[in-house]
Amino acid sequence: MDGPGIVRIFDTTMRDGEQAARINLNTGEKVQIARALERLNVDIIEAGFPASSKGDMDAVINVAAEVRAPVIAGLARTKESDITAAGEALRGAARSRIHTFIATSAIHMEYKLKMTPGEVLKEIERGVSLARSIAEDVEFSAEDASRSDMDFLADAFTAAIESGASTLNIPDTVGYAMPYEFEDFCRTVIKRVNKPGVVWSVHCHNDLGLGVANSLAAVRAGVRQVECTINGLGERAGNASMEEIVMSLRTRKDHFGADTKIDTTKFYVTSKLVSGLTGVPVQPNKAIVGVNAFAHEAGIHQHGMLCNRATYEIMTPESVGAPGTDLHLGKHSGRHAFNERTEQLGYNLTPEQSASAFEYFKELCDKKKDVSDGDIEAFLLDRILRLTPEIRYELKDYAVTIGSGGKPTASITLAHDGGETTEAAVGNGPVDAAYKAILKILPFQPELAEFRIRATSELADAVGEAHVILRCKDIKAQGRGASTDIIEATMRAYLEAVNRLCSVAAAREVAM
Ligand code: KIV
Ligand code: ZN
Repeated sequence: MDGPGIVRIFDTTMRDGEQAARINLNTGEKVQIARALERLNVDIIEAGFPASSKGDMDAVINVAAEVRAPVIAGLARTKESDITAAGEALRGAARSRIHTFIATSAIHMEYKLKMTPGEVLKEIERGVSLARSIAEDVEFSAEDASRSDMDFLADAFTAAIESGASTLNIPDTVGYAMPYEFEDFCRTVIKRVNKPGVVWSVHCHNDLGLGVANSLAAVRAGVRQVECTINGLGERAGNASMEEIVMSLRTRKDHFGADTKIDTTKFYVTSKLVSGLTGVPVQPNKAIVGVNAFAHEAGIHQHGMLCNRATYEIMTPESVGAPGTDLHLGKHSGRHAFNERTEQLGYNLTPEQSASAFEYFKELCDKKKDVSDGDIEAFLLDRILRLTPEIRYELKDYAVTIGSGGKPTASITLAHDGGETTEAAVGNGPVDAAYKAILKILPFQPELAEFRIRATSELADAVGEAHVILRCKDIKAQGRGASTDIIEATMRAYLEAVNRLCSVAAAREVAM
């Protein structure tokens, strides 16, 4: 049992967060994120919604098998089939939790559930009792709690506790609450239900940009579990951001009288990993993990910082694992210096991953003089940490011609199905020409849903990183590519998305 001043951190990056990333993370990627969350020391990981898809089912099974320290939770509506699916998925977990929910607001009950309040209460009793017959640890969430009638909400939570739930979650599902109002709301619910020994939780969305403020207000009201995501990833405007909540509690322990067990020095690398694997970038001025979070530009600030860092820094970059100076490595840097740098950047590579990463690093040193932290992180994510699906289409050769005189042309050779095909195309730009040539080779025609390129540093020879989302027959897949040649990076990203489309289509038995 945690002391009264400990707030449990319930991570829902892979459930509520992934729901919003618009692409599916594969099971291997989810296991990597779960391992990073375990290193952060989160208390509970919500690994997915097993009844929602085979992918979620597999992810929960695999996370439960491989990540042993945190409690692993699976989401379920109060429906019998959802709860049994969650129980099944969590069977191999060292510690498991079934998280079941139903809406309690008048608008949700009438228009979405088409149920009366009395029917919802019966459903809570039935669903929570069933969950409790399968798992020791059951959480109940009253969806849209912040817009629910207080008397009915208290009855709903009482029914859930009497049926066996020990964690009660008060979601602000649509991000409607105001912090001072939500603090009162939570305090009133807790008092009205009056059941000592249970853990009260909140789950705040960010539609008005108040997810973190509302979560912190709830802690003041006595809530001791907060549901949140890395980088604030989540439905619509996102969920409350874990790093902001945890650093607020840590930095203002004097104010809250509460803290978490999180190892905050792992925030930076976890944020990078989640952003890299989901393809959702982190805004530069994002609190805690944005690249500018610890940058001081104004001269007057820099002067203050030189005299005493505390003049303008309320927490140190080291406390969240943000790398200090960007040390550049080069072709004279050995394996030891390289491994030390990846460790300083927070990457926990296996010996095999370190060995392949070092090979890529050496290849990169042949192409450019200085290798920056951004370059290293880009190729670690592209070549080492991302788990590429079965490679159906592989880039073998390419030539792209551009100039002021005529239209860009590309000639591309892909290896596939045991042979090779070469096609050429003209486009509005070099990337357009390359993608058109690839499309001539593919037997299906995916649509480009998103395309981004960026450089990993300000230098002219920076590694270029491309991110692509393709859509075909209602399947979306993302691809990422990094290379010193930006056109190659865009082709690598495109082909990775193509290969992912093929593997999702095969798993869902959809003909392409
Ligand atoms: O936002 C919400 O209400 C949810 C519940 C399932 C907890 O995600
Ligand atoms: Zn939610």
